[in-house]
Amino acid sequence: MSEKEKNKRREFLNHVCPAVAMAFLGVPAIQSCSSGDDDTDTGSGNNNGGNTGGNTDAGYTKSGNTITIDLNHSNFSNLQSQGWIQFTAEKMLILKLSSSSYKAFDGRCPHQGVHTAWSYNTSNNRFTCGQHGNSYDTDCVTPGNGGVLTCYNTTLNGSSLVVTT
Ligand code: FES
Repeated sequence: MSEKEKNKRREFLNHVCPAVAMAFLGVPAIQSCSSGDDDTDTGSGNNNGGNTGGNTDAGYTKSGNTITIDLNHSNFSNLQSQGWIQFTAEKMLILKLSSSSYKAFDGRCPHQGVHTAWSYNTSNNRFTCGQHGNSYDTDCVTPGNGGVLTCYNTTLNGSSLVVTT
């Protein structure tokens, strides 16, 4: 091994966490590399993914196929201000029809499944997927290119919107 390679190896071992270094050297270690607190999910925003159970940091909780959204949470404020939201973390679209009426849709585009390119046109009440420019009615029955934008059942309990997928 050249001097340069030895230096590289030394530098690597100096910079990786001890558990990784031990594993690299073939020594088992139980210690983890985490130096902070326990696994606290401080998800933020609509792109937070994988929340299950009682985590309300992201403004919603998920239990099985039921998602309960806190409409007062800042992560959902666009729903109040612009009337709809691309709820990316759960691949969902939510539309506010009135203060007491909301609709939720499967956010995977009927065309090819893209769930991150949506916009909403209030003049014709259609969602448009920017991936290929197809637009979809929000009536749960009228098909666009590739099919119908699938509706989910929603129930409003005070400021909680319960969506069943
Ligand atoms: S994937 Fe949405 S228009 Fe093609």
